[in-house]
Amino acid sequence: MRVLGIETSCDETSAAVVCGTPEAMSLESLVILSQDVHRLFGGVVPEIASRQHLTGIVPTVDAALREAQVTLDALDAIAVTHAPGLVGALLVGTSYAKALAFTRGIPLVPVHHLEGHLFSTLLEYAHATPPFTALLVSGGHTMLLDVPAWGRYRLLGQTRDDAVGEAFDKVAKLLGLPYPGGRPLEQLAATAEPPVQRHPHRFARPMLRKTAQPGDDDFYDCSFSGLKTAVLHAVRDAEKAGDLDAQRASIARGFQDAVIDTLVEKVARATRQHRRTRVVLGGGVACNQALQQAMRDRLGARGGQVFAPSPRLATDNAAMIGAAGLFRLHRQEFADPSMTATASLPIPGIF
Ligand code: KG4
Ligand code: ZN
Repeated sequence: MRVLGIETSCDETSAAVVCGTPEAMSLESLVILSQDVHRLFGGVVPEIASRQHLTGIVPTVDAALREAQVTLDALDAIAVTHAPGLVGALLVGTSYAKALAFTRGIPLVPVHHLEGHLFSTLLEYAHATPPFTALLVSGGHTMLLDVPAWGRYRLLGQTRDDAVGEAFDKVAKLLGLPYPGGRPLEQLAATAEPPVQRHPHRFARPMLRKTAQPGDDDFYDCSFSGLKTAVLHAVRDAEKAGDLDAQRASIARGFQDAVIDTLVEKVARATRQHRRTRVVLGGGVACNQALQQAMRDRLGARGGQVFAPSPRLATDNAAMIGAAGLFRLHRQEFADPSMTATASLPIPGIF
């Protein structure tokens, strides 16, 4: 089976060709057109994103087919992200995929963007299969899932306010770093020592009550807005003392350490509670090496395995849509002509 994946939910126009079965898949091509223009605005501007997808979609799909050395005739299906995301951006991908599929008589498979993130690790690690604990951390989502089987997603917890990536981006902005801020913040944090107890940059860990029990809301849920405010106060204090430049790295380190401690503890709780040994990370924040290392240190000690995709597959891309599409194709889940883009929608199979 060979699937063309198309992704346009946010600010990446991407197409990929994925081949094989849900048990053994390989990536034949991947093209990602990143819309750098949003850097000028410090965030994604939806109208600009849609327009850039419009100009980018045809050459991106053509390049993916060329790179895979196949024509449309070689495809068993076209998989496209139909939710969630920016509606105008999603519409470009869904409209294009629909037109291509229906005029060429190729089956069309709608894919949920977050299910795509769960599948992307499989393209690099054949053992990243259920059952596993999944942590999806991106600019728009923070979700902890237990995955007993593909297509069955038990939602354990999520953020109550900012997504982790969003918090990274906002804190990076406070520290004068460019957008998107996750990577530069990680690089800056790596130059500082971890703030010790009582250090002003040893920020309180959000939602880490030691006595929390399974069933309590804060056992798995996260919250990052308080941490963001704590960083804001630290930045203001440093500015008042005329010392911000000297303190920026330490503040970045303090913020990142607090986020990582929180996420690692929540994931450890999930693996313990559901007796999972495998952990799959997904989304742009999964690129964070310090996060990956902390997960491995904590879970590896108990025989756990942590899988994180390489940066190209962790951030938004069409390979993951092709991979999830292959799974949905095997289940014969096709789109009908009424299929459209949806801004928010639960992952299919969530419980
Ligand atoms: O998955 P993604 O490409 O797009 C969304 O669906 O949001 O994730 C982008 C997010 C941004 O917030 C970015 O700052 C963050 O991922 N990010 C990182 C790192 N690399 C990207 N956050 C922390 N550390 C990184 N190394
Ligand atoms: Zn994403």
